[in-house]
Amino acid sequence: MTKHKHSIALVTGATGGLGTHMVKRLIDDGYEVVGNYRNPEKAEAWAEEMKKEGYRPHLYQADVSDYEQVGKMVAQIEEEVGPIEVLVNNAGITRDGAFKKMSLEHWEEVMRSNLYSVFNCSRHVINRMIEMNYGRIINISSVNGQRAQFGQVNYAAAKAGMHGFTKTLAIEVARHGITVNTISPGYIATDMVMAVAEEVRAKIVQGIPVGRLGGTHEIAHLVSFLASEEAAFITGANYAINGGQHVY
Ligand code: CAA
Repeated sequence: MTKHKHSIALVTGATGGLGTHMVKRLIDDGYEVVGNYRNPEKAEAWAEEMKKEGYRPHLYQADVSDYEQVGKMVAQIEEEVGPIEVLVNNAGITRDGAFKKMSLEHWEEVMRSNLYSVFNCSRHVINRMIEMNYGRIINISSVNGQRAQFGQVNYAAAKAGMHGFTKTLAIEVARHGITVNTISPGYIATDMVMAVAEEVRAKIVQGIPVGRLGGTHEIAHLVSFLASEEAAFITGANYAINGGQHVY
């Protein structure tokens, strides 16, 4: 895919399963990549691993559920690296459990990390993108924001909310050369999916027509495509990438 020359891409939740591959792919594409992380210990070990493979992304810490922290992080990136042209809102968590037992805390944690984070990051980069007359915002939602999944009322609400955000922001900023899109991955081989009990996971895989979990590189490939300059006419879209698990 063609990069936008000297483009800077920020990937939130960079040290996670999906984030790691996105960072590598965007570096391979020629972007100057900034990885956001929350946990410094995890990030340090992750950076070491990345270095061994020849990848050296910039790393910035912030809890993306915190508006002020994100504001400080974006200001620092703009000053030290440059303006952000590609934002991938990838950070997310699960707090699964039957709704009848779901705590307010688990509801709020998921809403803040998965949905408020999208507001926080997008809000802090959007005016600079408008000034530049160029931008790509890619929101990583989930098949479980499109369909139902037992035990994920909080997660499904946040992930469905993301695409509502995508659609409206897309039409607001379309005139400024900025696209906003959603990717809805199905079950991908990441720690988050591996944390689902084995027997539950086995049943889920049986329901995927392609017959396997997705690969993190397959999501990164779609991120790379939507981030490219040539994807300028795609905005407000929701890309399902789930091995046929949910077709509509
Ligand atoms: N369907 C129907 N009923 C179910 C059920 C299911 N899948 N799972 C549990 N139940 C029933 C139980 O039998 C139980 O019934 P009773 O109250 O009559 O006894 C009741 O629901 C509550 O069950 P639990 O006490 O076991 O519920 P829990 O709060 O411990 O949570 C769960 C259950 C662990 C969440 C389980 O449903 C589960 O693992 N679901 C899958 C969650 C999942 O797929 N998460 C995806 C994580 S990865 C991700 O999110 C990435 C992505 O985007 C795809």
